[in-house]
Amino acid sequence: MSDTKPTDSNQSSELAGKSRMTDDTLLETHTRTFAKAEGNGEGNLSIPIIATAVFTLLFVFGGIYHSRYSADYDPMVFNPEGAPASLGPAAEGGGIEVKLDGEKLYKRNCVACHQADGQGLPGAFPPLVGSAWVRGEPDRMVAIMLNGLSGSIEVAGNTYNSIMTPFSALLDDDEIAAIATYVRSNPDWGNNADRVSTEKVTELRSAHERGNAWKAEEILELFPLDQ
Ligand code: HEC
Repeated sequence: MSDTKPTDSNQSSELAGKSRMTDDTLLETHTRTFAKAEGNGEGNLSIPIIATAVFTLLFVFGGIYHSRYSADYDPMVFNPEGAPASLGPAAEGGGIEVKLDGEKLYKRNCVACHQADGQGLPGAFPPLVGSAWVRGEPDRMVAIMLNGLSGSIEVAGNTYNSIMTPFSALLDDDEIAAIATYVRSNPDWGNNADRVSTEKVTELRSAHERGNAWKAEEILELFPLDQ
């Protein structure tokens, strides 16, 4: 206990001595350290420049990608793959043969609302299973796909009052025919209505070009439900 104090003061005077001495050597030490770092390539400016370039490119790419595919965050748009025109050439097929994969196109364009099982979402999106709107002549369904639909409707015993946005600008006639056929003749959904030809879609598209969605009454007057 008695020799604690002298030890403390010895140590502090030693440290003080050291720090006084390092004043001169400090610069030298730093010079050596930096020289070594440069020699190793550490602290080399070219790495941050490359990193900056990479991040700039990523940023530009992200901006372009975003502005091209975000669809303005429109809640009514579900088109994760971008332009449907990039689907590639339609396979050969004549008459009422469907030229494209309707299931794939359905999953890409309709599934967000009407769901993979075609049951829709209660209170929000009507089902395509057990729907009188889907059965019978294809005109009504195709016209809805082309121009959208709004207003109060009854589907399979439930009432919906919402808006479906048009697909006329997003899908071509082959694609609409393929989706309509898939929905109308899907045995898993209990649907077995006729296939839909591309010609039928072309005909309906030019006959019913319009700038706004169908009102429920309008479409039912043109294409009544066959109950
Ligand atoms: C953004 C959501 C949304 C998407 C995507 C969508 N629909 Fe609809 N669809 C609706 C809504 C909402 C209604 C009901 C509109 C109303 O209440 O007047 C509807 C109604 C319908 C109807 C008539 C009612 C029924 O259930 O039979 C059909 C047929 C239909 N849609 C087919 C399609 C097909 C095919 C696609 C894909 C090309 C599609 N929809 C994509 C929301 C959507």
